[in-house]
Amino acid sequence: MTIDSDDLPYSPDVGVNESTQPGIQTIISRRLLLTGAAAGAVAAQVTPAQGAGGSTLKFKDVAHGNDAMHHVADGYRADVLIRWGDPLMKDSPEFVPGKVDAAAQEKQFGYNNDFLAFMPLPYGSRNSTHGLLGVNHEYTNGELMFPGITTERGSGIKGLTKEHVEHEMSAFGLAVVEVRKTNGAWRYVKDSTYNRRLTMRTTPFRIAGPAAGHARMKTSADPTGMRVIGTINNCAGGWTPWGTVLSGEEGFNSHFRGKREQNAETRNFARYGVPGTRSWGVHVDRFDINKELNEPNRFGWVVEYDPYDPKSTPVKRTAVGRVKHEGAMTTVSADGRVALYTGDDERFEYVYKFVTTGKFDPKRRESNMNLLDEGTLHVARFSEDGTVSWLPLVQGQGPLNAGNGFNSQADVVIEARRAADLLGATPMDRPEGIAINPRNGKVYVVLTYNERRKGKDDANARERANAANPRAGNKWGHIIEISPPAASNGKADHAALISRWGFLIVAGNPKDPKTGAQFHPATSENGWFQAPDNIVFDPKGRAWIATDGMDNFGNNMADGIYGADTTGPGRALSKHLFRAPDGAEMCGPAFTPDGRTLFVAVQHPGEGENSHFEKPSTRWPDFKPGVPPRPSVVAITKQDGGEIGS
Ligand code: FEO
Ligand code: CA
Ligand code: CA
Ligand code: CA
Repeated sequence: MTIDSDDLPYSPDVGVNESTQPGIQTIISRRLLLTGAAAGAVAAQVTPAQGAGGSTLKFKDVAHGNDAMHHVADGYRADVLIRWGDPLMKDSPEFVPGKVDAAAQEKQFGYNNDFLAFMPLPYGSRNSTHGLLGVNHEYTNGELMFPGITTERGSGIKGLTKEHVEHEMSAFGLAVVEVRKTNGAWRYVKDSTYNRRLTMRTTPFRIAGPAAGHARMKTSADPTGMRVIGTINNCAGGWTPWGTVLSGEEGFNSHFRGKREQNAETRNFARYGVPGTRSWGVHVDRFDINKELNEPNRFGWVVEYDPYDPKSTPVKRTAVGRVKHEGAMTTVSADGRVALYTGDDERFEYVYKFVTTGKFDPKRRESNMNLLDEGTLHVARFSEDGTVSWLPLVQGQGPLNAGNGFNSQADVVIEARRAADLLGATPMDRPEGIAINPRNGKVYVVLTYNERRKGKDDANARERANAANPRAGNKWGHIIEISPPAASNGKADHAALISRWGFLIVAGNPKDPKTGAQFHPATSENGWFQAPDNIVFDPKGRAWIATDGMDNFGNNMADGIYGADTTGPGRALSKHLFRAPDGAEMCGPAFTPDGRTLFVAVQHPGEGENSHFEKPSTRWPDFKPGVPPRPSVVAITKQDGGEIGS
């Protein structure tokens, strides 16, 4: 999200101090060698033609640039599938620009679509022309949604009434939408009984796992600590082998206000940045920490819901830990246990892995539904020798004891960040998307950027460069590839306490030597990217990356979708498939099982300084007078009907 003051454009004085990063290229090159990227680099020097270089991706790069419209590679089509405000149910009101109406918004597609999951219909099939989209609605841009609302740098939005806040809360959350492809075009099925909104304002969530029912989870509205209304800042997500969708509650702290006082939660709140600067708490008591001390403990979780059962109650899985979850992606480990990987999206935060106690049973869906409630949470320590150690966050082990305020596993998961600090986890350059390559079981961790990273010799141990985050002033981000060891049956052992790591891509403009960027050398001038955020794999095991910050540092480049091989001669040769309209962040890439459709989410089109409802920088996608820009899901297909990239 970009409203957080942390994410506002950088001051021009933030620069790369090259003197603080001696040997940086040496470190990066060595880690690339370990992962085999150099083999691709050698091949590329023999065939330096732009866009070739051994990539399996055949399309020609979209040009970098920025304008009011979206752009897709030649030979492809990009169709708007569903927009903010589109009616989802039989009795949903039509979208009325500028109207403040929370009840209507409850039955309409939400704002700022982020993560997308395509879940085929019927359940268990690989149908690629009919399914359910699970959608995250991460946040709102009041200034673009309603007339008369302004933004103020660093302190959020001005002018919101209680009615605005309620509408915003209804625009937050999740959506399930039935979608179908007929005659080559995707449409959403209006009035489908699967269609559903799970909102911040009205939807009850069950709290499960070690923190359920704990005193620190209880509020005046919920004296049981077992049930919470709403989910918040749902950024990225994932899915499970049993057909449920996961969603990460990310920047929850920003919505709480009040004064941090000396009490049982002081240390907790300080570590998570509670209170924040947004204004919901002016109108809604539970967002004021001086009225409801424990309410912030009920957010920052991974949420699981069953898109196939519109009556099912969504669940907050507290065993997975409370951080600012970007997303959560699962895979079945060699012995049948399930591993869930998740990143904490903030500068200098950590990468986590949860391994279930129970095993996945492909024959009995019901027996898997609570697998995420029992298991072991780990945090990652990346070492210079190329290993990553997974450190268990278990109450009673090591420093996670009563002396440090951890009286039970509930305390450990509620304050997962502080527990991870005590174990010596590696502070990363803002962990965003994490995905597992279905072709080789490797795990890819996207670090978006961290311009505050200090040099290797800086005195501050938490902030200085380390092996896995080697660039001081890292404005561009990088992607780490984790290789779990093979178990005796040859399958990836995601439960192992030691894996290996290297770099897939070190992002930034490779033509600009101060970035230290490392792509395949045949990557074209339009093929490189910076500020990677979301990542997903196609059925061939190629990575597809969505960016959030191509325009950082005055590039005037819009965010987009980039594809790259992860193996073979085209490894790390990035190609630009889709470009978002002005002000938008690119989110949610999700493939159909046949790899022939790529759904993408255009989030906050028109966001930016001096862009507001009355005078937005773009009116994408409707381009009608008086209609503001509308965050929308776009379906990308190939004109010849082939696989994306073919
Ligand atoms: Fe919501 Fe991590 O971006
Ligand atoms: Ca993100
Ligand atoms: Ca981001
Ligand atoms: Ca994003």
